[in-house]
Amino acid sequence: MKIGIITRNEYGWSSSQLREAMEKRNIASVFFRFAQLVARVHYDPQASVSFGEINILEDLSALITRPIGRGSLEEIIFRMNLLHRLERLGMLIINPPLSIERSADKYHTLCLLEEHDLPVPRTAVTESSEEALECFQELGGDVVIKPLFGSRGIGSTRVSDPDIATRIFRAVSFYHGILYLQEFVPHGVSDIRAFVIGDHVVASMYRVAETWKTNVSLGAKPVSTKLTSELESLAVRAAKIIGCKMAGVDILEGPNGPIIVELNSQPGWRGLQSVTKINIADEIVEFVLSEIKA
Ligand SMILES: Nc1ncnc2c1ncn2[C@@H]1O[C@H](COP(=O)(O)OP(=O)(O)O)[C@@H](O)[C@H]1O
Ligand SMILES: [Mg+2]
Repeated sequence: MKIGIITRNEYGWSSSQLREAMEKRNIASVFFRFAQLVARVHYDPQASVSFGEINILEDLSALITRPIGRGSLEEIIFRMNLLHRLERLGMLIINPPLSIERSADKYHTLCLLEEHDLPVPRTAVTESSEEALECFQELGGDVVIKPLFGSRGIGSTRVSDPDIATRIFRAVSFYHGILYLQEFVPHGVSDIRAFVIGDHVVASMYRVAETWKTNVSLGAKPVSTKLTSELESLAVRAAKIIGCKMAGVDILEGPNGPIIVELNSQPGWRGLQSVTKINIADEIVEFVLSEIKA
């Protein structure tokens, strides 16, 4: 058995953890980047995607995707369509490409969660800077503006001054950005990250920051916590709705209860690993093995 890992950096922390977890189990692994793949049409279908001598469909039992990475629109759409093609031809991919697409777009994620009655913040999205200013007032004049496809807290800003809001809206729409505005949910300086694998939260933490943004990559400190069964089932349901077999679910504890702000289909787990005894890479690999057998 051989498992493939698509990653930008095979020596990155998470990839190294996965490699170790597979070595322990005597499972062969192969790491590659999207740029190293060749896709073929109207050949032998089994030769549809290859990496050097490796024929992905024939030689691998599963593919684990790490972050798809930044890229041009052309690169990203090609990468996603390549994953869809592999999946149609029978490849087990974790996370499934559809779930990666859904969770990349914060608007799409919240829509699907809301449609299944999960708690999400009031949010408005528009391409028009004039409309955005109306929405800013509708949302109480205290909003978080986020990049639609953002991650790690980069580029998110809290704005409560209409003049500053106007300047930002005009600048973003001038560069053809989408204006994604969300009510500010008071949550102190911490939130919850739940790490879902399959039907379970395998580990979770509070992320305690010095400011309202609680991304570990921005310096928030992980603090171990065991979630209530309600919060665990909220996180698992959210992952299921998006179609993720594993996910990092971000939950704010707002004044009216928990609120899901986003769901990451390619979560890192270095911060979380530092506060839990459970070996998360082992859990991921065991899960992938169980899916291969299923
Ligand atoms: N609506 C909000 N109100 C208050 N804080 C928020 C809100 N949305 C996000 N945050 C804070 O900002 C962080 C980053 O936002 P998030 O939506 O998770 O995007 P990213 O993809 O950048 O992690 C969250 O972990 C949370 O601490
Ligand atoms: Mg987040």
